[in-house]
Amino acid sequence: MITQKFPLTRLRRNRFDEATRRMVAEHKLSVDDLIWPIFIRDGGGDPTEVATMPGVYRVSLEGLAAHLEEAARLGIPAIALFPATPAALKDAQATEALNPENLICRAARILKREFPQMALVGDVALDPYTDHGHDGIIQNGYVANDESLKILQKQAINQAEAGIDFISPSDMMDGRIAALRQALDEQGLIHTRIMSYAAKYASAFYGPFRDAIGSQGALKGDKKTYQMNPANSDEALREVAMDIAEGADMVMVKPGMPYLDIIRRVKDEFGMPVFAYQVSGEYAMIEAAARNGWLDHDKAMMEALLSFKRAGCAGILTYHAVQAARMLEGK
Ligand code: PBG
Repeated sequence: MITQKFPLTRLRRNRFDEATRRMVAEHKLSVDDLIWPIFIRDGGGDPTEVATMPGVYRVSLEGLAAHLEEAARLGIPAIALFPATPAALKDAQATEALNPENLICRAARILKREFPQMALVGDVALDPYTDHGHDGIIQNGYVANDESLKILQKQAINQAEAGIDFISPSDMMDGRIAALRQALDEQGLIHTRIMSYAAKYASAFYGPFRDAIGSQGALKGDKKTYQMNPANSDEALREVAMDIAEGADMVMVKPGMPYLDIIRRVKDEFGMPVFAYQVSGEYAMIEAAARNGWLDHDKAMMEALLSFKRAGCAGILTYHAVQAARMLEGK
């Protein structure tokens, strides 16, 4: 440790001008860090804006390639796909999750053709497909773990066979990583990566997302029997340790900014690639404040994203991906 004291040491010298600040910067955001979540909807026509997420759209399959063109040009390496499944296709068993012609599979085939260089992240959980809005199937009033795993395995294979590169389970069932790895391997899908939502909290910050995919109104009760209690931190390490032991290639902490402490602990403890999901409510907060003139949009956005790098993230799922990539362009 350096023991020199003021006035010999003046930490402000390293902040004196822009060149020096750039030279001593410890962390940098780059376009390589960005994963852009996209909402896919049925039918045709122009993208429709999500009311609680201004600037975020549900995109039809026919509009998908146009919607992604700029992201591809900017070099965003990956996108995460989420379906706004028509209510008529939802049921208690999430049957539509297994349909090879569902929105995700059709979108994956289009995107693999149009943008072969882009990695596709597929969310594995049943909530976009269940009429009760839960991530698994319900038996005797409880989201049944082992029975849900069997459906999740089929859902993962369905997605991987359509071209999804990263299977990303967000369901928080116990044992899902081992179950998914085994199911994928048995199909010969050994290159399909698993990006696990390893520490996913039961959070109020998912509200706008549930609006976007249309699961909010339907959701009975809450997700506290499977998503984590925001009070807990040691438990997150146990969740992550299990997912790594079961074969996760990379792990995620979700939400993002309220859980930077968890990201840092996970990174220090496991040295794994850690991703953060800066979720819908975090996006909504920044947009709402900026649209009211209460925050500088671009500065707040970039500072929030940089905080994830400082906390130890390899990358960030963020609805701001394209806006951030525009700002990074040429830097
Ligand atoms: C579904 C899922 C959720 C999010 C990602 N996958 C919502 C939930 O668990 O209810 C939230 C993402 C966001 O808020 O942006 N399992």
